[in-house]
Amino acid sequence: MPSDAQAVAAPTAGPGDLLERLGIAAGHAAVVGLQWGDEGKGQLVDLLTARYDAVVRYNGGNNAGHSVHIGDQKFALHLLPSGILYPDKLNVIGNGVVIDPSLETGILKEITGLRERGVQVGDNLRISDRAHVVLPYHKVQDALYDGAVAQAWESNAAIGTTGRGIGPCYADKALRSTAVRMGELLEPDKLRSKLQRVVSIKNGLLKALADQCGQPFEPFDPGVIFEQAAAQGEALRPFITDTFRLLHDTIDGGKRVLFEGANAALLDVDHGTYPFVTSSSTSALGVGSGTGLPGRCLNHVVGVAKMYTSRVGGGPHPTELNDAIGEHIRNNGNEFGTTTGRPRRCGWLDLTAVRYSAQLNGATALCCTGLSVLSGLEELKVCVGYDHRGRRLEHFPPDADVLAEATPVYETLPGFSEQIGDARDFDELPGAAKRYIERVEAFVGTPVRVVCVGPRRDQALPRG
Ligand code: GDP
Ligand code: IMO
Ligand code: MG
Repeated sequence: MPSDAQAVAAPTAGPGDLLERLGIAAGHAAVVGLQWGDEGKGQLVDLLTARYDAVVRYNGGNNAGHSVHIGDQKFALHLLPSGILYPDKLNVIGNGVVIDPSLETGILKEITGLRERGVQVGDNLRISDRAHVVLPYHKVQDALYDGAVAQAWESNAAIGTTGRGIGPCYADKALRSTAVRMGELLEPDKLRSKLQRVVSIKNGLLKALADQCGQPFEPFDPGVIFEQAAAQGEALRPFITDTFRLLHDTIDGGKRVLFEGANAALLDVDHGTYPFVTSSSTSALGVGSGTGLPGRCLNHVVGVAKMYTSRVGGGPHPTELNDAIGEHIRNNGNEFGTTTGRPRRCGWLDLTAVRYSAQLNGATALCCTGLSVLSGLEELKVCVGYDHRGRRLEHFPPDADVLAEATPVYETLPGFSEQIGDARDFDELPGAAKRYIERVEAFVGTPVRVVCVGPRRDQALPRG
């Protein structure tokens, strides 16, 4: 058996204990991010998968980048659920996800890459026939649109998307007549004629957009788009199915399901810092629409919060640190995008934001990551409110304009100098590190059940 597969079969961090501490020993649970993404969701999903039968993605696309560290191996997952590293677990990509099927940038690339590393991807993967397809013109539209916005308005109006075509694909889903779903890739005759019409509309729109930006534009050939999409559909045929039925049968059969949120609460299209958000329902509220499972199927929600804040792309980030402390966090936390490689904008922990997101998600427990990154800082600041136009705001203002003008109100806590990456028990942590976590718990009002002192499996410490 390849060494990767062996490593994934034997988690070392005592997931049974973690599950007990998380209070999720029975029922179905979701893991969601409480900030602007990259909180360490992949790490927790990997650990918890040991005790679940199925792991389900319900939103987003390959804008997500979830890293899983096993020993000295690192896996970056974008579309595949993080449970894919376990050969005996069912991994489902629900209808709420948008899928780039390609071998160059999409799911076929991910599957191929994992197989080359000895990870089994076969009967353990199912993709919804109702999930929407990201096609090449969506990626061009993504780049042109964000560029046009930056050019026509001002540079800080650009969202700074991942360029993966996510927004344009969800926009087509809402427009309906120009959308393509995964199931349609399996019907070549219908697909050919649909793409003839759709690509002609897209070429017209994109040409106008490119002209406005002063960019060159090479029209897409509908025949080529069709040939590629049909071949990708054929390659993915074994995985594409009615996941509504599959998931209901799974749950009715007494199996346990773990939902893996992509992106994060503050990037939610309704409740995030709009318009600097992604285009899907990123919180636990998205589980129902993104899978077809009713709300009662979700018993627990574990919110993942990093003990500082990072953000990639545009939009307000009140606690951002453009100084040596920000650099310290970026370098210590290796804060460079898993998907795009962009340096992440790092800053102090915003507790008002985490409390808002915990409420939005109905979080029943918190997992705090990134604590070890703060080691070496003399004092630690946490944002507990804002000053805005002479008024004190006690609650997080998701309105991007208000947030851009808001000045954080900080509480200062003592820092710690010890390296804590080798701690294997919460009680081994320095007093200041423990007090920091206790302050988080008290402010957010949700119990902290796991504290991560690094990204590996053995660095997740149960608490409480
Ligand atoms: P995800 O998208 O939520 O799965 O998170 P990513 O894998 O994209 O990013 C997590 C980021 O946090 C990486 O840059 C890690 O290096 C950094 N990091 C710092 N401390 C920790 C930790 O304790 N656990 C994890 N998982 N990541 C950490
Ligand atoms: P994970 O799951 C961090 C951000 C992008 C951009 C905005 C919109 O790894 O936490 P999009 O391409 O979705 O239209 O970009 O959202 N963004 C993320 N930032 N982590 C993510 O996912 C993200 N998914 C989207 O950087 O600012
Ligand atoms: Mg990420």
